[in-house]
Amino acid sequence: MKKIVILTIGLLILLPSFALGQYQSISLSDSYSFNGSNNNKENLEWGEANLTLRRLVNQAYSDGVSELSNSGSPNVRVISNTICDQQPGLNIIDERNLSDMNWAWGQFISHDIDFTPTAVFDTRLQSLERIQIIAPENDQYYRENQTMMSVFRSLYDVRTGLSRENSREQINTVTPWLDGSVVYGTSEQRVNELRTFEGGKLITTEHDNGDLLRLAPVNSIEEQRVRGLAFFSGDIRANENIALTAVNTLFVREHNRIAEEILNDNPEFSDEEIFQMARKINTAIIQSITYNEFIPSLGIELEPYVEYDKSVDPQISHLFSVVAFRIGHSQIGEQFVIVNETDIKQTIPMQEGFFNPSIIQKHGIDSIIKGLFVTKQQASDIYYHDSIRNFLFGEPQRGGLDLCVLDIIRARDHGIPDYNTIRKEIGLIPVTEFDEINSDQEVIRRLSQTYRNVDELDPIIGILAEEHIEDSTLGETGYYIIKEQFERTRDGDRLFYLNDPDLEDLREDISNTRLSDVIERNTRIDNVPDNVFFVSEIKNNNLRTDNQISFAYIAVFLIVVFAIYAQQKSSRISK
Ligand code: HEM
Repeated sequence: MKKIVILTIGLLILLPSFALGQYQSISLSDSYSFNGSNNNKENLEWGEANLTLRRLVNQAYSDGVSELSNSGSPNVRVISNTICDQQPGLNIIDERNLSDMNWAWGQFISHDIDFTPTAVFDTRLQSLERIQIIAPENDQYYRENQTMMSVFRSLYDVRTGLSRENSREQINTVTPWLDGSVVYGTSEQRVNELRTFEGGKLITTEHDNGDLLRLAPVNSIEEQRVRGLAFFSGDIRANENIALTAVNTLFVREHNRIAEEILNDNPEFSDEEIFQMARKINTAIIQSITYNEFIPSLGIELEPYVEYDKSVDPQISHLFSVVAFRIGHSQIGEQFVIVNETDIKQTIPMQEGFFNPSIIQKHGIDSIIKGLFVTKQQASDIYYHDSIRNFLFGEPQRGGLDLCVLDIIRARDHGIPDYNTIRKEIGLIPVTEFDEINSDQEVIRRLSQTYRNVDELDPIIGILAEEHIEDSTLGETGYYIIKEQFERTRDGDRLFYLNDPDLEDLREDISNTRLSDVIERNTRIDNVPDNVFFVSEIKNNNLRTDNQISFAYIAVFLIVVFAIYAQQKSSRISK
């Protein structure tokens, strides 16, 4: 009798876990195509990779066709030196306690939805035009009139740029859907290079501290850009910095974890079925984190989601990709913080983390991920750290780029109008004085010493300079452009997770999945705070830096020396 009772209780405990395997009743009716087409059934090509970006405001090429806009504005390096220069050691922290995970996620998803490369990525197009950036007088790193950078213009559709009626239009080479392409790629060929074709999994590289991304094939673009072994993922920019690679790795692990669960619940499923289903769920989680955590963390309130709207073209606007979403560049600090399993903090100069996957090959990703959520992000403001303003991918004079210069010149390259014209065209009131943009005296001083008047302002500078609206990390113009894009990306997507019938049973669970859950189930990091987009004060206080530890050792050493000395002295006196 006792045995039967124990057996019945055992069965009652075990039964639900067998019967309610999370993925037991899943089925697949449709999924994102790799090149983005066939999402909108009335406009099959909407959202396809390699289409031109969308104009939210009219182009303003100086010749009306293709010549740089804002051409009467000051030299871009002058703007960078006088406005964007953030002196080393000057840390202006985000006023809302956002963590470095915030910028890392922003970059991760931006690589999912937009990429307009320059000719440099395509050897057949080496002859495309370059823009020479001339160093002004008193530049810290370059002689006056020296060409400090030679910037390739963006890739554009060669059927455009022929007349005023058909002005130059640049290409978004990835799909604008938030469809996980940063993990899976935008072509059948790319994804096939990433798959194991067993159990629906993605290829990984084994490491003591957890699986890493697969290594790049010989002679791939990735391999050419790094010293040592490069990683390979859906997007060719995966090695650009260690935070980006770490987040990317997290979602390859999550894919493989989901695939294992699907296989457990459905042993009869083929590799293809498991792969597609895991891809769909993983992508849905990326969407949910973006819409339920990341966008709200910036203080952006989107219109509530109603339903799929087939009249919405999801294409990324020039204003989003070459201007407003680059606000992330000002959030980057001077160093990466990495935190090991005993909570010891180490720092790595930011520029050492660029195209340097060997750091991840040495440490794994846990310490980098933890460093991201315990470190406060730099404020979204006009200041760019030297790590990206002079040392981007190399030393000054040895290929080091200035990202502030690139951001300003890229907008001119795409024919974007000045800041005030944008405001007018999107329905905001134009400003008449610099102090209407921000009341901060230093910001006003920098703007007014560089530009002759507000109508000259380059859009990225105006947007970065704007005083933030209440409870947000953005000013009015940046807020408008970013909100418009994220609503469009969501509403125009028939396969968005809240509209996908295949995900109906999992919807609530996906909506409740936070980035912290993904970190917890795919790393060995303990006590992950619920919201990793903000720094949790309590957790941060427990961390010890290398300096603090050295100081503690020195203090103990001095106390011991002093004790020995005091003892010897007292024994001498007593003699
Ligand atoms: C260490 C971190 C980062 C580095 C080194 C970096 C570097 C770059 C570079 C070199 C470009 C191309 C510039 C050009 O030639 O026009 C670029 C483009 C861009 N970046 Fe970043 N970036 C970083 C982080 C971020 C973050 C945090 C965000 C947003 C939150 C962001 C958003 C963008 C966007 C939207 C583009 C345009 C992409 C396209 O459509 O082609 N980046 N970045």
